[in-house]
Amino acid sequence: AIERTLSIIKPDAVAKNVIGQIYSRFENAGLKIIAARMIHLSRAEAEGFYAVHRERPFFKDLVDFMVSGPVIVQALEGENAILKHRDLMGATDPKKAEKGTIRADFADSIDANAVHGSDAAETAKVEISYFFPALNIYSR
Ligand code: CMP
Repeated sequence: AIERTLSIIKPDAVAKNVIGQIYSRFENAGLKIIAARMIHLSRAEAEGFYAVHRERPFFKDLVDFMVSGPVIVQALEGENAILKHRDLMGATDPKKAEKGTIRADFADSIDANAVHGSDAAETAKVEISYFFPALNIYSR
């Protein structure tokens, strides 16, 4: 089925100047960028986005990292987009990510792991609407 997913290019990958290389991987896999923006998240925005992780021991480090520089946020659309995007990213911990994945190629640590992607249809819906009001999505 055609799905949508939320993708974030994190501060480490923006700083490494690999936005275009990551976009090419999305495009080459048949994922269409239907909304995009660059934003330097406030602490409140980062905490709100990752609210499900609020009780996790890594929450503060995660938020500190996500506000350390600008990110690029995009909604991707395509066949089986959620899983396809997760396959392109590779495992959360770049040390465990398969060769040729975005995290294996561009990430340095589990915190500075280059990209985020929605993990399921329900979270994709919530995460896309967190950054993109419906008016700002260009699917056709
Ligand atoms: P992301 O997909 O953006 O979702 C939550 C982030 O928390 C994750 O990527 C990692 O960058 C970060 N994180 C740090 N430690 C852990 C951990 N032990 N398990 C999962 N995520 C972690």
